[in-house]
Amino acid sequence: MSTLTITTPDDMHVHLRDDDALAITVPATAKSFARAIVMPNLRPAVTTVKQALAYRDRILKHVPEGVDFTPLMTLYLNPSLTVPEIKHSVGSGIYGVKLYPHGATTHADQGVSDLSELYPVLEAMQDAGLPLLIHGEAVGNDIDIFDRETIFIERTLGPLRQTFPALKMVLEHITTKDAVDFVKSIPNGLAATITPHHLKYNRNAMLEGGIRPHLYCMPILKRELHRDALLAAAISGDPRFFLGTDSAPHARLKKETACGCAGVFSAPHAIAWYASMFEEAGALDKLEAFASHFGADFYGLPRNTGTITLMKQAQTIPASLPWVEGDVLIPMGAGEKISWNLS
Ligand code: NCD
Ligand code: ZN
Repeated sequence: MSTLTITTPDDMHVHLRDDDALAITVPATAKSFARAIVMPNLRPAVTTVKQALAYRDRILKHVPEGVDFTPLMTLYLNPSLTVPEIKHSVGSGIYGVKLYPHGATTHADQGVSDLSELYPVLEAMQDAGLPLLIHGEAVGNDIDIFDRETIFIERTLGPLRQTFPALKMVLEHITTKDAVDFVKSIPNGLAATITPHHLKYNRNAMLEGGIRPHLYCMPILKRELHRDALLAAAISGDPRFFLGTDSAPHARLKKETACGCAGVFSAPHAIAWYASMFEEAGALDKLEAFASHFGADFYGLPRNTGTITLMKQAQTIPASLPWVEGDVLIPMGAGEKISWNLS
């Protein structure tokens, strides 16, 4: 059987949720990732250093015995965030500030409506080297949902980069060729995360033969030409593209309903998914840098010293997994067979 041993990866974008859910999400991520950038879109949102560190403590209680896992905390950008709080966050366990345009996704009703109000905060982040993590979607009645990312890049990200040329930014969970091209056009200070589901599926997978609520996520899946561009970027060896699962669990009943939640839960099999897709693309040798080096390098973190081993051994993704309050989670690709497994 062939095996592949790589530096332990980091998940540079994950939703761990809170309370009882942590008993499920934390072990699911910690089994393959040494660190994770933890999204702050709880309700209420994580907007202060104090809240983020209390959240970190709740997460750490659920790291299994003998497992080495470090949650890297973030703050939710909103008008109450101040310049002194940014200064205080540096060196206090905060690794980024997340921009959710108002209304763009789960719990983005607390998000930003007018970014220019927050320019002093962005300036302080630029000075401190604290990255802005961006949910890159423009939202409005005049904007088609499939165009949200492209329009965000044109209207917001391009101008933002010009105003704050030294602000470190991560364009999260990119979904379009336009995003790939924009990131490639910026020589430094801008990177992007790529999820397993946006590498695996195009929008047909979500809509063909019936509507598949477990593939509904934000940003929404796009055309095949975009999936193609993402895969090419992921396997290119370009350090501006790295792993971020955007694993975002919602109970089955919250997705299989008249108005279902957005989010794909991929954490337990994410690294096996990436390995299977990289191999299929003839680029297994590019997996380690994408999963374990480029993210750490961009964030200015030391690379992990441990390793994980993957085995080329087919596995079937379970039809469902346990969740809280008697409900279940339907994982990414439930029932599908993939060619790699975690040892
Ligand atoms: C995420 C969630 O559920 O928290 N949902 C999603 O579809 N990706 C939020 C987000 O990252 O957009
Ligand atoms: Zn997310």
